[in-house]
Amino acid sequence: MILNKQAGDFDVQAVRRDFPILGTTVGGKPLVYLDNAATSQKPRAVIERLERYYREENANIHRGVHFLSQEATTAYEQARETVARFLNARESRECIFTRGTTEAINLVASSWGGQNLQAGDEIVLTTMEHHANIVPWQLLRDQIGIELKIVPVQDSGELDVDAFKSLVGDKARLVALCHVSNALGTINPAKELIAFAHERGVPVLLDGAQAAAHLPIDVQALDCDFFTFSGHKVCGPTGIGVLYGKADILGSIPPYQGGGDMIDRVTFEKTTFRGLPERFEAGTPHISGAIGLAAALDYVTEMGHGVMQAQEQDLLAYATERLSALPGLRIYGTAPEKVSVISFIMEGIHPNDAGEILDADGVAVRTGHHCTMPLWARFGLTGSIRASFAFYNTREEVDILVAGLEKVRKLLG
Ligand code: ALA
Repeated sequence: MILNKQAGDFDVQAVRRDFPILGTTVGGKPLVYLDNAATSQKPRAVIERLERYYREENANIHRGVHFLSQEATTAYEQARETVARFLNARESRECIFTRGTTEAINLVASSWGGQNLQAGDEIVLTTMEHHANIVPWQLLRDQIGIELKIVPVQDSGELDVDAFKSLVGDKARLVALCHVSNALGTINPAKELIAFAHERGVPVLLDGAQAAAHLPIDVQALDCDFFTFSGHKVCGPTGIGVLYGKADILGSIPPYQGGGDMIDRVTFEKTTFRGLPERFEAGTPHISGAIGLAAALDYVTEMGHGVMQAQEQDLLAYATERLSALPGLRIYGTAPEKVSVISFIMEGIHPNDAGEILDADGVAVRTGHHCTMPLWARFGLTGSIRASFAFYNTREEVDILVAGLEKVRKLLG
């Protein structure tokens, strides 16, 4: 890997060699992986860390006095420290390991929502939320009668900030919004929105599933009350993610799941619970996942967000220009502040058909609704083709995508 190079000095071919899968072929064609918003590929540093864990350190944590258990416990808790540094959390106990963003949001809905919400209270969401930041609140709505207020999105894919301000009203008890839209790429003005909500005494959950892969995150500067992300979108393993929460809030809400490792003392009459973070990590956690996630965060931190962003923004600009020139192609999501995600439709062509033709040329894009059905309904669509770029993608891969789309047009007219 090329370490801490300034933007412009980035050697993308050297970086690509860190990712074994990028050198493979699909149906005889070199893989062109443009589905990074769904999941990123994994560098050797992560793959080898997972292997080393299972080869040399595997044991259950927090439970044994034996050597391996202590090794595994140390590695797991060091992973939490790495996460805390990555997010700039005040303390590592504010970082709870979860299965991913989805479980993190469900945890907040269940534990925080169950304790703090009652019928008639309002939660403010936005039209561009992923289903993971809609459905848990709907389940709660159906259980206790809260109301969901939905902030509209403009034609450009930007949030309607004036509408946001009018919807954070007297009954609002929580704002839950994405930092970055997975379907449009829009970067929301999170800091400004959080400050506005806080002036009205309303806490904010920031869904950082897409942001964590593209932007430096500083939960103290953002001042969000909760922040969630998934390891697998930031070069880490699947099945591991993080809920960050301010210690005073997390410390005041009930456990999400009950089981081993989260208890202080159990009798049949009464159980008392451990403090943060263990009270939210019932059962044997995804130990290798947490350790692999730490390796991934170390990898991207060592590379530096500056160089990653410069490469991704170059790809975004180049791909936007080339795709816009294709007849009958329309891009959705043109916010001035966006990450390297491009959703588009081709007039008269079903996204899945385009996806299959691209796949035959080794090009992986996502097609469909991207788990944002309400967003697509707002645009009068059921979905799109989405190309999402990571720092290891190249302009040559953009050219292959464009050539593939020209072929799609020729075949399907
Ligand atoms: N949320 C992931 C995506 O946007 C799966 O594709």
